[in-house]
Amino acid sequence: MIRWKHGRSGFHFLYERKGGIKMFDRKVYEERIAWYRQARFGMFIHWGLYAIPARGEWVRSVEEMPEEEYLPFFDEFDPVDFEPKKWARAAKRAGMKYAVLTAKHHEGFCLFDSALTDFKSTNTKAGRDLVREFLDAFRAEGLKVGLYYSLLDWHHPDYPHYGDRNHPMRNCEAEKEKEAGRDFNRYLEYMHGQVKELCTQYGKLDIMWFDFSYKDDCHDMTGETWQATKLVNMIRSYQPDVIIDNRLEVSGEGFGSLATEHPSDYSGDFVSPEQIIPPNGLVDEAGRELMWEACITMNNNWGYCAKDKNFKPASMLIKKLVECVSKNGNMLLNVGPDAKGNIPAESLQILEEIGSWMDKNSASIYGCKASGLAKPENGRITRNQNRLYYHIMENAIGSVPLYGIQKEQVQAIRLLADKSELKMQDNWIVNNYPDIVFVEVSNTPYLPDETDTVVEVIYKE
Ligand code: GLC
Repeated sequence: MIRWKHGRSGFHFLYERKGGIKMFDRKVYEERIAWYRQARFGMFIHWGLYAIPARGEWVRSVEEMPEEEYLPFFDEFDPVDFEPKKWARAAKRAGMKYAVLTAKHHEGFCLFDSALTDFKSTNTKAGRDLVREFLDAFRAEGLKVGLYYSLLDWHHPDYPHYGDRNHPMRNCEAEKEKEAGRDFNRYLEYMHGQVKELCTQYGKLDIMWFDFSYKDDCHDMTGETWQATKLVNMIRSYQPDVIIDNRLEVSGEGFGSLATEHPSDYSGDFVSPEQIIPPNGLVDEAGRELMWEACITMNNNWGYCAKDKNFKPASMLIKKLVECVSKNGNMLLNVGPDAKGNIPAESLQILEEIGSWMDKNSASIYGCKASGLAKPENGRITRNQNRLYYHIMENAIGSVPLYGIQKEQVQAIRLLADKSELKMQDNWIVNNYPDIVFVEVSNTPYLPDETDTVVEVIYKE
C-alpha cells in the first residue's frame, strides 16, 4: 500500500517574523474577518451532477458506484431552470449576507469553465459557467460570495482510489494494482491549478471553503499532503482578504491550530462545526473568542435528495441562528437545488419565513455577539455594544423577567419588532423580586412572535 509522505514538520508560522519565529498576526486576522463576524448568516449551496440521482452528494461513494455508471449524469445534466438571480433573491430575502457554492464537490465535476478538465458544466447541455453566473448574481444583490472546493476528487485518475476511506472504488480489487501508477503530485498540480483559476478569473472572492482533510490506514490526507502552505500563500497573493475555512488541516472533526497560540499557515480563519452548534460556543487555548461557522442542512442532506422531506421548521432554524449568534458563531444554512436548478419549494418557504422574522428582528443578529450574561430560562440573549437583545421564546404568566440586568442600568426598553416602548413594571406582583427587571410584552397567553419575541434593552455600564 502506498503511504503518502506528509512533509509536516511542526507548524510554519505565517506573516511577520519575530526572533526567528513567524508570528500569526492577530490584528491582520481580526481585520480580515471583521465583516464575516458581523454578517452571521449565510447560504450554503450544494449543487452538482448528484442532483440527478437525487440521493445526496455522496451517492457515488455510498453506493460504491463505478465511474461508467455515473458519467451518464454528465451527459444528461441540463439545468433548464437555473437562474441564479432567483437563488440570490431567496438568500437576500432570508436576511443572509453571504453565500458559498460548491465549485467542485467530491464527485470532481466542475461548475466552472476550468481549462484543466473536460468534466465541467460548460461541456454539458448547460453550456454555461455556473460559478461565474452565481458570483455575478449574488454580488448584484449585495451579498458576499464564497466558493467551496473539494480537496477530494473521485473523478481524477491520480487521486487515490483503492483503500482510500471515501473513494467509491475503495474496495474494488481491480483498482488495487493501478494505485502504484497514480501520481499524486499530478493531482496536486491540477488542484492548485484550479484554485488558481478560481482566484484569478472570477474577481474578488470573500470566502474559500475547502473540504476536507482526513486520515485512514493508507493515507494521511491533511495539511502539507495538499501542499497547504504553498496553496494558501498562492491564494492570499491573489486574494489577500479572502477568508478560508479550517479544513486544509482537519475534517469537520477537530478545530485545528487556529485554536492554539500558533496557528499554522493553513489554519484557516474559522472553525467549521458541521450539523452541530457548539454547546458552549468556542474559545481558543488562551480563552479568546474562536471564530466558528456552523454548517447546517435544512433537511438531512446537502445535495438534493428527492425523498428527504425532513425539513426543519423555520421557527427552529430562527432559534438556531439566534443560538449561534448568542455563542459568537455564524450559521451557514444549506440548500440543495435540484437537477433543473430549482431550490426546493420547502427550502424557499423556509427562507421566506426566516426573512419575515429577520425583517423585524435582524438588528438582534447582525453585528451581535454573546451577551456575557447567563442564558436565561425563557430564551437567549445577544448583544450589540450597549444594546442587549432578549430573545423571548417562552411566555411568562404575566410580566416577563429580563434576567441579568439591574434596573439602574436600563435606559430604554423597546419591542424590537416595532420599537414600541415597554415599561419596566413596578407593582405588587413583581415587587417581591426587586433585583429583576420585568416588562409586559403581551396581555394574552401568547407572545407577539411565538417563535422569538425580541426585547431590546439599551443600557449603561
Ligand atoms: C462534508 C461532506 C459534504 C459536505 C460538507 C459540508 O464533510 O463531505 O458532503 O459538503 O461536509 O460541510
